[in-house]
Amino acid sequence: MLELNNISYNEKGLKNLSNILSPKNYSSVFVLVDTNTKEKCLNRFVRISKIENANILTMAAGEENKNLKTCEALWNELSFLGADRDSALINLGGGVVTDLGAFVACTFKRGIDFYNIPTTLLSMVDASVGGKTGIDLGSLKNQIGTIQEPQEVIIDSDWLSTLPSKEIRSGFAEMLKHGLIASPDYWNSLKIIKKLTPPVLLDYIKTSIKLKSEVVTLDPKEKGLRKVLNFGHTLGHAIESYFLASPSRKRLLHGEAIAIGMVLEAYLSVHCCGLQIEEANDIKTTFSNHYGIVKISAIEQNEIIALLRHDKKNKAGRINFSLLKSIGIPKIDIEVPQEYFSKAFQYYSNT
Ligand SMILES: NC(=O)c1ccc[n+]([C@@H]2O[C@H](COP(=O)([O-])OP(=O)(O)OC[C@H]3O[C@@H](n4cnc5c(N)ncnc54)[C@H](O)[C@@H]3O)[C@@H](O)[C@H]2O)c1
Ligand SMILES: [Zn+2]
Repeated sequence: MLELNNISYNEKGLKNLSNILSPKNYSSVFVLVDTNTKEKCLNRFVRISKIENANILTMAAGEENKNLKTCEALWNELSFLGADRDSALINLGGGVVTDLGAFVACTFKRGIDFYNIPTTLLSMVDASVGGKTGIDLGSLKNQIGTIQEPQEVIIDSDWLSTLPSKEIRSGFAEMLKHGLIASPDYWNSLKIIKKLTPPVLLDYIKTSIKLKSEVVTLDPKEKGLRKVLNFGHTLGHAIESYFLASPSRKRLLHGEAIAIGMVLEAYLSVHCCGLQIEEANDIKTTFSNHYGIVKISAIEQNEIIALLRHDKKNKAGRINFSLLKSIGIPKIDIEVPQEYFSKAFQYYSNT
């Protein structure tokens, strides 16, 4: 496995941050938080890192604020507070803060150093790897951005003690995906976890980061192999968008939507990619144990299927999936005949 030299772990990593910053002689250091991480994480950050004289920048929490307006406010604040090219920004928060903060840093004065301290499970196992920075453009997610690695990423599972359990489950879905696309052993060890507590999760977080990094290192610009990370996401994204737009439905978290997507795409994998039905059943049972089954009516299914046409991964009108040949062996660019979509929903709902 490859070594990741800009990731450090635990309180030790946080304690060491000031040793990393000192020799760089930054003219000023800023910490970006959102309204929740300001309340739940900032005190601990200051206490452990002993970085006490940084300027604190605060943005409103939530995906709806991951936009240019927030960036503009932060660029203005940085300018007002005298930030220059030798300043640095530390992003302390979930994927919204690390994506947006990294983008603000990459573009301010043509780029200043930045450090990411992810505080949600999703941002630890997913957003922390691969150097994608960015913001949304209206309802289009992550349309504007850059690819730039932070100076350092610090992963500390203790942040998870204040994270709502729903958010933990959401991040856990990406970890299960890492097992499905890259390692049957990892999948088997994850699926028997009963309680998602921070100390239990730390070792698994490390494995997820390594598995994702291996994929990303081989294909940093998403030309081919990196598409394996999209398993569960073609239908998952359509379901997420549908629930977000539907007035009668409560929003699903990203992980909750891709959990459904992975069961549906396991079914498609059986029919289009050679996955054994026993493996698909194993996937279905594991996800239903953690996430239950969400009732989706036939009308809703049709609307979700219609949304698939807008998927970013489509080329020349064809809907492409990243599926599984078996657990641990993914296959990209699979075209799926439309007739299988509603059967996949039937498979998902049948207990
Ligand atoms: N760059 C990438 O490769 C990549 C990969 C995956 C996801 N993302 C992006 O990440 C975002 C989703 O990330 P997320 O799920 O972390 O969302 P988020 O940043 O909105 O965090 C979820 C919620 O938890 C709160 N929170 C964060 N840390 C907390 C803590 N320790 N205790 C209590 N509350 C806390 C936040 O304020 C927010 O309300 C999306 O915008 C997505 O596009 C990026
Ligand atoms: Zn995802």
